[in-house]
Amino acid sequence: MAEGQATAKRSAWSGKWAFILAGAASAVGLGNMWRFPYLAAKFGGGTFLFTYFVLAFTFGISLLLLETALGRHTKLSAIGAFRHFGKRFAWIGILASLVPFIITPYYCIIGGWVFKYFAAYMAGGASALSDGGTYFLGFLYGPTESYAWMLVFMALVFIIVALGVKRGIEKANRVMMPLLLVMALGLAIYVCCQPGALEGLAYYLIPNFAGVDVGGLILNAMGQMFYSLSLAMGIMITYGSYLDSKESLSGSCLAIAGFDLVVSFIAGALIVPAAYLAMGGAPTSAGPSLMFITLPEIFVTMGGAANVIGVVFFLLVLFAALTSAISLTETCVSILCDAFKWTRKRGMIAAFVVVVVVGIFVNLGYNGLGSLRLFGMEILDFFDFVSNSVLMPIVALLTCIAVGWFIRERVTRRTASGEEESVELRGTDVIAEEVRISAPFRAQKAWAVMVKFVAPVLVVVILVWNLIGVFGG
Ligand code: PHE
Repeated sequence: MAEGQATAKRSAWSGKWAFILAGAASAVGLGNMWRFPYLAAKFGGGTFLFTYFVLAFTFGISLLLLETALGRHTKLSAIGAFRHFGKRFAWIGILASLVPFIITPYYCIIGGWVFKYFAAYMAGGASALSDGGTYFLGFLYGPTESYAWMLVFMALVFIIVALGVKRGIEKANRVMMPLLLVMALGLAIYVCCQPGALEGLAYYLIPNFAGVDVGGLILNAMGQMFYSLSLAMGIMITYGSYLDSKESLSGSCLAIAGFDLVVSFIAGALIVPAAYLAMGGAPTSAGPSLMFITLPEIFVTMGGAANVIGVVFFLLVLFAALTSAISLTETCVSILCDAFKWTRKRGMIAAFVVVVVVGIFVNLGYNGLGSLRLFGMEILDFFDFVSNSVLMPIVALLTCIAVGWFIRERVTRRTASGEEESVELRGTDVIAEEVRISAPFRAQKAWAVMVKFVAPVLVVVILVWNLIGVFGG
């Protein structure tokens, strides 16, 4: 199998669009659906939208470009990509590689919940699902059902990844991503056309500065952007490593960030007005309680349309979760194959075993190990905290410091007179050259300043803020 040899014959995208779609598929996930709308409603509507936009297209895009260029330059996933510049950098890659192994199992658990809700709406369960959370908690804490849905979700993800980069991931994205966009848009338009919805839409769009906590606004926007763009966990390094040098990196990264923002924006234009219609105000919760408790209550107020809306909405979220889980799984497989020189098949089996075993352990947090608390958190929340709030900022910081300050690469060049000379490039120049192979890099100076100075500071602020949130009382 051609795609099987991890290093000898590396998997490859069939073109730029496949790469963009895959990056967007990884970026668009649960975060867009259940956190972005809530944050926008909480932090002054348009004020949050504007802040997020600015951060995504400066800070976010810089890191995205850095990671994809690193992958494409080295043609390796995270560990190898860092080791390429010297053994002493390999551990950054190892740390980055831990993240997808931590996230994939619990992401699949949540994917299972989404699947379950999709099936329940298909069976016409709109009114049964809107009972203030009893239904959801009964399912969550039940002894078997949540495991079954988790396994179904995992099986689907692994089947797609097993089909390979072109035949599996690309094809799945090509079907799911456009459908996702159409469903989100359709639902948002439907909701906004209901009498009274415009008030909610205005609340969402119009910048409101009154009472907005500026620190909270910026920190939340930064954290959300970071997670949403799937940065600092090796995914974009791996995906960049499958990209041909002739395809524009900067253009592709812009498209990925743009796609992610558009979906987040539409999710907000759907959820905030819907909450206004049903409850007369913005949503007051995010995460699972918004998705599995509040939204079913909102849907049921839409009368006869409730089941159809539930089906479409949970199918949309299912696609978002599936495509993200696929990117996480592909990264796990790619890391194993590159690290141990395994065939793809072997990497797949090992990744599957790890994900299933860890997934079962995490899910035990809701029944068998229900009383276990790690730093006051349930197991799933703890995994989420370690990966997103601690490891991701640390990896991003180390990446920026390594590339910005320490990495050097010796390359041989031909001078104007035709002689060969050996020059030493700095990390930022290595990346900039990689970007320039396929397109001019006009923002190179600003980008280098971002990577060397601005991003490290911002990332440290996020990290400290996350830690204070949990340990600071
Ligand atoms: N970016 C995804 C989201 O917004 C989450 C994700 C994280 C996906 C890590 C893949 C990897 O939900």
